[in-house]
Amino acid sequence: RPRVPPWGGKVCGGGIMAAQCVTKVELTVSCESLLDMDLFSKSDPMCVLLINTAGSQWYEVGRTETVKNCLSPKFAKKFIIDYYFELVQRLKFQIYDIDNKTVDLSDDDFLGELDCTLGQVVSCRTFTRPLVLAPKRPAGKGTITVSVIYPIWSLQRNVVLESWMGLLHRQDFFGKSDPFLEFYKQNETGWQLAHRTEVVKRNLNPTWRPFRVPLQSLCDGDMDKPIKVECYDHNNDGSHDLIGIFETNMKRLQEASRTSPAEFECINSQKKQKKKGYKNSGVVSVKMLKEYTFLDYIMGGCQINFTVAIDFTGSNGDPNTPQSLHYISPQGYNEYLSAIWSVGMVIQDYSSHKMFPAFGFGAQIPPTWQVSHQFPLNFNPANPFCPGIQGVVEAYKVCLPQVKLYGPTNFSPVINHLASIALQATQQRTASQYHVLLIITDGVITDMDQTCSAIVNASRLPMSIIIIGVGRADFTAMDILDGDDGRLRAPTGEMAARDIVQFVPFRKFQNAPREALAQSVLAELPGQVESYFRIQKLNPPNDPESQLQPNESQPSASAQ
Ligand SMILES: *[C@@H]1O[C@H](CO)[C@@H](O)[C@H](O)[C@H]1NC(C)=O
Ligand SMILES: *[C@@H]1O[C@H](CO)[C@@H](O)[C@H](O)[C@H]1NC(C)=O
Ligand SMILES: *[C@@H]1O[C@H](CO)[C@@H](O)[C@H](O)[C@H]1NC(C)=O
Repeated sequence: RPRVPPWGGKVCGGGIMAAQCVTKVELTVSCESLLDMDLFSKSDPMCVLLINTAGSQWYEVGRTETVKNCLSPKFAKKFIIDYYFELVQRLKFQIYDIDNKTVDLSDDDFLGELDCTLGQVVSCRTFTRPLVLAPKRPAGKGTITVSVIYPIWSLQRNVVLESWMGLLHRQDFFGKSDPFLEFYKQNETGWQLAHRTEVVKRNLNPTWRPFRVPLQSLCDGDMDKPIKVECYDHNNDGSHDLIGIFETNMKRLQEASRTSPAEFECINSQKKQKKKGYKNSGVVSVKMLKEYTFLDYIMGGCQINFTVAIDFTGSNGDPNTPQSLHYISPQGYNEYLSAIWSVGMVIQDYSSHKMFPAFGFGAQIPPTWQVSHQFPLNFNPANPFCPGIQGVVEAYKVCLPQVKLYGPTNFSPVINHLASIALQATQQRTASQYHVLLIITDGVITDMDQTCSAIVNASRLPMSIIIIGVGRADFTAMDILDGDDGRLRAPTGEMAARDIVQFVPFRKFQNAPREALAQSVLAELPGQVESYFRIQKLNPPNDPESQLQPNESQPSASAQ
């Protein structure tokens, strides 16, 4: 099934789903107080992990080793799985007491299971829950803890290196050198150029601009793999003079980055042979700059706040007639509800309190029957929050018969309302909150100019807007808001700082699998979150790397 390339596609290019584009996370499992099934000894537990991505089929990811005679096992084997933000990935961890060596588990005692989503695990980092034998049947006092890490040596990560050089020895008789660096990865046949810096003109203490390079091109994700750095004096005719060479590896650079830059003597072996007392041709310092990814922000405690806004304009049609877009079928279905479920099910995992504000616009509302362009679905302005996605759905169903559909279709009030809340979030100076506004509408915007201004303003805040168009209207005007072909401008000419709007017509997904809508509108969100916090130089509330146990910070035997 074709898939929108994830944000990692930037590195890999061309929208091709190369294996290294996929974000791979590592899960480790431990249990406490398992049921004791064996008569003369303790249980011998083993964990099986099953996955079901986007409502397809369950399949087995792998099994841990069996821990003998233990009711609180810490399984050594890690599960490595592909993470997709925009899909609901259900996980099932099943614990068995292994009595004999058959692959079939039906002859082994079942000690309990955990059913959860990868989104839940990732947003908690360490996820502890009671084990159950069946829904609502606890497995004694047994609990399971799933921890996730997004390893620093993952292939799809980039590293950012900054280098400078001191004490560079004079190369030629005619003044200063024009130095540049070349970074090489080792391969089977020799050395392969990974990056060449710019030339710093006439300088014996050059500082090169920081550069970003995929870990793949620098060391294939192998932290011990040698990296060779050559330093040259640039000549216009291309016959660059070697200044010196040194070797290092990612482990060395990573360790150094925690304390101070790594320093390397640049050695020219010919000079070393010829000159007595030769020490080096200069000392190069290399510093690894930390660059957080979407998962680093989420695992470091960033919350995604989700707000829903629903179009109650008259063009939807009388909700009591089946022709209306607000008509709820006997099966409990309409396009508004479907859009809320589809997007909400993915996003809810990234909010710890799971309270979601929901608003309506374009209706006459009681008691005064004035037209409102932003009213809480629960009619409680002091507390518009609904408990869970189910709560949003309930509030919508209760609200619908109480309002009169009217018009016009104004987006700017809800966008400005959310922008004022997102602005408050910026006062925390950490990457702690990012807001997503889902607007579901049946028609063409009336306040286009105000909406463009509102979006341009919001583009400087930690928020993104998803617009889903329901019904059969002509939505071409919406493509202007979705800045995919050129940055959005306010009527004043002011440009959006970044693209924060994603628009899709619902009808495009009518015959598609259920998860396709969310997949399409959410695929760009991780990139938007990541770029916002990076540009603002905001760090996650907790550094996900500093929380690692010492033995977790290095690659180790893993389950594939
Ligand atoms: C495994 O154990 C079960 C019950 O403990 C038994 O019925 C089954 O025959 C055993 N299988 C093997 C291959 O020993
Ligand atoms: C190793 O690097 C060299 C130099 O770039 C290149 O020509 C060669 O194809 C590479 N070998 C492999 C196996 O990738
Ligand atoms: C955003 O979500 C977090 C946690 O889910 C919550 O504590 C916070 O109050 C929310 N902020 C707003 C403005 O709703």
